[in-house]
Amino acid sequence: MVARPPVRIVVDRMKVEDLPGVHEIERASFSTPWPAHAYRHELENNRLAHYIVARCGDQIAGFAGMWLLVDEAHVTTFATRPEWRRQGIGERLLLALLDLAAARGAHEATLEVRPSNMPARRLYEKYGFKVVGTRTRYYSDNNEDALIMTTDALEGRSMRERIAELRAAVAARPDIELDESDRPVDRSRGSDGSGGPGAATAHDATGEAGGPKVIQPSSVTRRRL
Ligand SMILES: CC(C)(COP(=O)(O)OP(=O)(O)OC[C@H]1O[C@@H](n2cnc3c(N)ncnc32)[C@H](O)[C@@H]1OP(=O)(O)O)[C@@H](O)C(=O)NCCC(=O)NCCS
Repeated sequence: MVARPPVRIVVDRMKVEDLPGVHEIERASFSTPWPAHAYRHELENNRLAHYIVARCGDQIAGFAGMWLLVDEAHVTTFATRPEWRRQGIGERLLLALLDLAAARGAHEATLEVRPSNMPARRLYEKYGFKVVGTRTRYYSDNNEDALIMTTDALEGRSMRERIAELRAAVAARPDIELDESDRPVDRSRGSDGSGGPGAATAHDATGEAGGPKVIQPSSVTRRRL
């Protein structure tokens, strides 16, 4: 049985103080969880990275992250607390990511997902992500392929209308109260907000849990999404 929903969810930037709660959900959600230092590294060193959390009081209800690469938002991680799933928290996080991506001028959002991960696939499809390709044996724990899912143009009419409808539906849910006053704000670092070539870091693209490594944005892959 699903636990009673949290009474009030606030979406906010992920901070270093949030990492214990993030790791708890990470470990409960992924077969190859990122090591403790990986998120800290992302927060402190990756100028392309944007990570958010859903808070319920002093608890972390979920988290999500993306890299903003020129005009593309690449979702890197996404999970909600297992006992609070299916209550709109994932949607709230995805809305915040897409808002942030659009505000920063991203033309589209993209991600990788396991074909077997139906909850995530349904969520992404609901938000307009479509399968555009596969990455063969992307996940090293079981050699599963990854589906590449991408949105239509974020600034296009169809996406804007879809997002507006979904946002209204989430806001109208009776089982969850959302604080709309503190939508994550843009965190521009530098004149254009990009770190430039070589500034990006990624978690081990082979799927093994390991420390982030410095890579070129053009070769971005991650092992989970
Ligand atoms: C994927 C995940 C983040 C969804 O979080 P959530 O808080 O449960 O999501 P929501 O309650 O906002 O669900 C919204 C939509 O997602 C889809 N969805 C979520 N769980 C689902 C399930 N068990 N079965 C089918 N669809 C599901 C549905 O489309 C749902 O909309 P609906 O309620 O109108 O049917 C969560 O299941 C999770 O953390 N999974 C483990 C980590 C993971 O797989 N992350 C993604 C990696 S690509």
